[in-house]
Amino acid sequence: MKFMSIKEAMSKGSGKVALRGWVYRERGSNKFKFIILRDAESIIQCVIKKEKFSEEKFREADKIQVECSVEVHGTIKTDKRAPSGYEVDVDDFKVIGWSDNFPLHAGQSREFLDNNRHLWLRSRKMNAILRIRSTYVSAREEFFRKKGFYRFDPPILQPTQCEGGSTLFEVKYYNNKTYLTQSWQLYAEAAVQSLERVYDTAPTFRAEKMKTSRHLSEFWMVEMEAAWMDLKEVSEFAKEEIRYCLKKVLEKHEEDLKFLGQDVEKLKRIANKPWPTIKYREALRILKEKSNMDVPFGKDLRTIEEDKLMEHFDTPVVVTHYPKKIMAFYKPPDPEYPDEALCFDMLAPEGYGEIVGGSQRSMDIEQMKEDLIRQGEDPSNYEWYFDLRRYGGVPHSGYGVGLERVLAWICKLDNIKDAIAFPRTMLRWKP
Ligand code: 4AD
Ligand code: MG
Repeated sequence: MKFMSIKEAMSKGSGKVALRGWVYRERGSNKFKFIILRDAESIIQCVIKKEKFSEEKFREADKIQVECSVEVHGTIKTDKRAPSGYEVDVDDFKVIGWSDNFPLHAGQSREFLDNNRHLWLRSRKMNAILRIRSTYVSAREEFFRKKGFYRFDPPILQPTQCEGGSTLFEVKYYNNKTYLTQSWQLYAEAAVQSLERVYDTAPTFRAEKMKTSRHLSEFWMVEMEAAWMDLKEVSEFAKEEIRYCLKKVLEKHEEDLKFLGQDVEKLKRIANKPWPTIKYREALRILKEKSNMDVPFGKDLRTIEEDKLMEHFDTPVVVTHYPKKIMAFYKPPDPEYPDEALCFDMLAPEGYGEIVGGSQRSMDIEQMKEDLIRQGEDPSNYEWYFDLRRYGGVPHSGYGVGLERVLAWICKLDNIKDAIAFPRTMLRWKP
């Protein structure tokens, strides 16, 4: 008989089934062996009755432990007492891989689980998060295809900074040195002069000297860049992208989100409400009036200011026009208020912080050179980037979404590390 997934077997609901997977739980008596089998999506209870097997075969069943991999043939029926509402009465089974004393069990420390990440990926928690992550990324691909965007793959080794020299990872490059990418942006800006509308899904590296639940050293920044778009259009587009992906996750993963402790109804309300856009100056006013927090113009919003601000909102919020002098060189000043930059961040509710960063792109080579010099960079390394302005440059804008930040918010994770399979942080780069 052809093997089927547990999900397929449960939707069949009765009759003969052939399943394979790993043992999630087991218990035995002298008459029965119960195993809860798991595969990529589901779990199901299987019962091996001694009366149906030889002494020797039942002894083999008795030796099955957690994380043994097995093939099972039997008859499925509904059973209200079983964890997923179905039970398989086993006619035959075969152990594919034995497992003795699986080292992970309930109540172990975060540290221990991180050290055993290769095994912890099998947990129902990680399984649910990784499937949601896969759905999210596919939804995003779908979104950009519908919008007529081209996938553009940037170089990962790059000769300069994009987001500040202090978080660059240096790489020995033959007899030279180069850096791991901090953002695809400068290259995406070259691409839009050819393709007009591009997006990517790529790893990003930052040597963050941060030990927070929001920072990774290797993360996936999923970015877009579009010719002819201005700040208003690009920030509305960012809302549309995140909302689209959130809705797709909600359509497919209601049970998984509940399993992770998320309030699905609340997320649905968020997905259907408008998300406000405010200016940085307005954010300062809200902080002062509603949180009694005095933040002077010119100071970046750090975690504590972001969290305080977001206490007054229950959806993501776009904040625009941060002070120009603390922004990256490529963010242009607003012609009307030159101390403000034409840029935006999107903040997630409930303390998940900044999930998107983006801007309109400066077209003013002299301004960018001055900013670079002020930040200790040598503008001559950016001549190729200035060429993009010299030869038929057009207005363009883009942004980057921190994939793990968004997933941490959607999945209600207490640490961003669980939004990626093998997290890398200041203190963790193994296994
Ligand atoms: O705000 P950032 O630094 O923006 C850029 O890099 C732009 N060049 C993107 C662009 O316009 N194409 O980073 C974008 C997002 C942040 O909003 C945050 O969600 C995420 O990337 N991010 C991190 N996520 C996890 N760990 C870190 N260390 C992160 N640093 C940034
Ligand atoms: Mg940012």
